[in-house]
Amino acid sequence: MIIKTLELQNFRNYKSLKIDLNKKTNIIYGKNGEGKTNILESIYLLCFLSSHRTISSDSLIKTNEEKAKIKGKLIKEMPYNLEIDLTKTKKEVKIDDKVVNKLSDYIEKMNVIIFSSEDLNLIKGSPKERRRYFDLELTKLSINYYSVLNDYNKLLKIRNEYLKELNQNMNVDLNYFHILTDYLVNKSIFIYQMRNKLVEKLNKILNPIYKEISGIKGFNIKYLPSVELENFDKETIKEKLEDAFNNNLEKEIRLKSTLYGPHRDDFLFNIEDNSLKDFGSQGQQKMAVIALKLSEIEVFKDFKKTNPIILLDDVFSDLDNTKKNNLLKHIDSDMQVIITTTDLDCIDKKLLTKAKLIHIKNGQIEIEVEK
Ligand SMILES: Nc1ncnc2c1ncn2[C@@H]1O[C@H](COP(=O)(O)OP(=O)(O)O)[C@@H](O)[C@H]1O
Ligand SMILES: [Mg+2]
Repeated sequence: MIIKTLELQNFRNYKSLKIDLNKKTNIIYGKNGEGKTNILESIYLLCFLSSHRTISSDSLIKTNEEKAKIKGKLIKEMPYNLEIDLTKTKKEVKIDDKVVNKLSDYIEKMNVIIFSSEDLNLIKGSPKERRRYFDLELTKLSINYYSVLNDYNKLLKIRNEYLKELNQNMNVDLNYFHILTDYLVNKSIFIYQMRNKLVEKLNKILNPIYKEISGIKGFNIKYLPSVELENFDKETIKEKLEDAFNNNLEKEIRLKSTLYGPHRDDFLFNIEDNSLKDFGSQGQQKMAVIALKLSEIEVFKDFKKTNPIILLDDVFSDLDNTKKNNLLKHIDSDMQVIITTTDLDCIDKKLLTKAKLIHIKNGQIEIEVEK
């Protein structure tokens, strides 16, 4: 996938911006706070319809403006014109000027991988952030996943409402509640299986990549479903979840909340059996995230049969040269890469000579050097 032009209107600190991007390496440089990350965020948002760093769309629209627009022209395998119109309450998505209704189809087409400082939250943050990450990855890999997850979340909401009612009044009809629970269990099976499949796939690639960039062996991801499962067969998942629900109804009513299921899963990042969250240094955690993203490149190249666009947000500043080179080695020279940095000296000289340079200052392009 390649993005040729990007246009922003009233997005973050940009009143109006148009950038022509190089098919290979692009380097966006400028001081802190000038709007470098905002550009990468807009590309990410254009593809995945949500920002990698905020869930409120208010902050995406330029202060004192009512609406924002992001447009991007893709070329090669996917020659589409993408457009998102944002207001404080609404998001409209268009491909080639036609409004897209089925957003899962749209997201599934996209192939973009971002490396950013927010990624560290994946390790240090709450299970919710890890689930959000894996859910988005799976949405990019399977349209079905998105719709099953959506159904699941709707059912979960209704079930939780029911639990609240049961908490107030034990005379509520339990038949419908049990049917809801059955539906929820059925949707869970697919979600559990897909999450497990992705983790298995990543684990095959992760360890050697992590070893190469950090020198440390044994990196792996452990998937922790909210019920203990010895395997991911349909029958096992069904039985274990049903048991958990049957044995804990009183507790669920007391807490007015569904206590088991994919919305309670977690993923652990480990070196052998030690959790990086608890034992890893900041450097090791950062390397782990980079290894994860590099593995993602492999998974996506294999699955989508096209190269992803790679967005590298200020990742070079605190890596030594060996680590920088190891990172770059994994990014094919024919992939489109968009790098941001405050300091061009951090960038490998070879990369610098072949890159398009874009200097951003105060929401505008100051200098553009075409290669
Ligand atoms: N909604 C908004 N309206 C106007 N300016 C914004 C908005 N959101 C963020 N900004 C500005 O964008 C700048 C940060 O941009 P960012 O891309 O994170 O900078 P950096 O170049 O350091 O990556 C800050 O100056 C911030 O005030
Ligand atoms: Mg930044």
